[in-house]
Amino acid sequence: MFVVVGVSGGIAAYKTVTLVRALVTNGHEVHVVPTEDALRFVGTATWEAISRHPVTTSVHDDVAEVRHVALGTRADLVIVAPATANTLAKMSAGIAGDLLGVTLLATTAPVLVAPAMHTAMWEHPATQHNITTLRSRGVQVIGPADGPLTGGDSGPGRMVEPEEIAAAAEALLAPRRDLADRIVAVSTGGTREPLDPVRFLGNRSSGRQGAEVALAAAARGARVRLVAGHVDDGVLAAAAQHPSIEITRVSTAADLHEAMRGASAGADVVVMVAAVADFRPQTVSDQKLRKEDGDGTATLSLVANPDILLDLVAHRVPGQRIVGFAAETAADDAELLERGRRKLARKGTDLLVVNRVDWDRGFESPDNEAVLLTADGPVGRARGTKREVADALWDAVAALPPVDH
Ligand code: CTP
Repeated sequence: MFVVVGVSGGIAAYKTVTLVRALVTNGHEVHVVPTEDALRFVGTATWEAISRHPVTTSVHDDVAEVRHVALGTRADLVIVAPATANTLAKMSAGIAGDLLGVTLLATTAPVLVAPAMHTAMWEHPATQHNITTLRSRGVQVIGPADGPLTGGDSGPGRMVEPEEIAAAAEALLAPRRDLADRIVAVSTGGTREPLDPVRFLGNRSSGRQGAEVALAAAARGARVRLVAGHVDDGVLAAAAQHPSIEITRVSTAADLHEAMRGASAGADVVVMVAAVADFRPQTVSDQKLRKEDGDGTATLSLVANPDILLDLVAHRVPGQRIVGFAAETAADDAELLERGRRKLARKGTDLLVVNRVDWDRGFESPDNEAVLLTADGPVGRARGTKREVADALWDAVAALPPVDH
């Protein structure tokens, strides 16, 4: 694998020599990208000898090969060790003033950072804010460890040992393939129930969580049938490019029902992430409803839509796993769990991902927070990006006891 190791200017840089050696020994092609400051601690000759590749800090070397972008785009993993407070701040702001900054902006590979700094700098709200920002973008943070620091102080701020960083790197480079050759059906987005040719009843679902569930499954080797209702712009872009994901677009709950019945036939796992309208207008006017046709008031008669999840559970084939989502408003965790338990019992799914939603929580945001519930109780809690919640879902599916239906 192609691994870029960014090194910023901290004394822990000497330990990164051991990290680079471990990665090279494990058979990876390793390119070291130090910052100018890092070279004050460990020089170019050491990095070149240990990585067996030329080392540069400048974006102006090898311009003909567009090296400044090539490293980032070719990388399967980018590690920054040590990551100083300054480098973390630049990463969080997206500053690309040197080769490391450009590489970090150009890459779509996983990024692993191992912070190292004095405790006071680590605990400063600015650094903590930057770490939170980086985590929300999917950056993996390892450490810092607690212990003696350079200068005689002690506390959190030590870079974790190179062996531990190498192990975390290997885990990121060898994604789980536990869904290899499995067929997975996922629904996402919101449904729209027409009132007349120009109006509908809808909801605020962005479709992002379901898209991430599909992408995470595909990354683990599954063939994915993704049934998407209405989603925000760009949400399906990555899934549409993925060779193992087939997308079917739908609009109403009835369309979604039909599509999911088809998609779940022969599927090993079915995940209903879509926000389905529970009701639809009793009649759909084929003319636009006009104010002047009324008396200043309006009444809407609604009829219930079928519960798609209940129907899929009722028709499940032996061995099939079914996962539901529950978006709940709740005053606290206890109420959230109780609502989740009741919904799981009612729906009969193997797993229910219970989300807390609010006016400003859950919908439309890149982050999510969820409890993973089975009939035996909570089996996990996920907090982070929607991709992290998706991976936690697949971990929980993999850990389900053998099927008895
Ligand atoms: N769901 C479904 N068909 C519906 C409504 C919901 O398949 N008509 C699915 C959703 O995709 C989700 C789960 O059921 O996986 C729970 O959805 P949620 O809206 O939380 O629950 P409801 O069953 O609608 O119950 P309520 O709104 O009363 O909480």
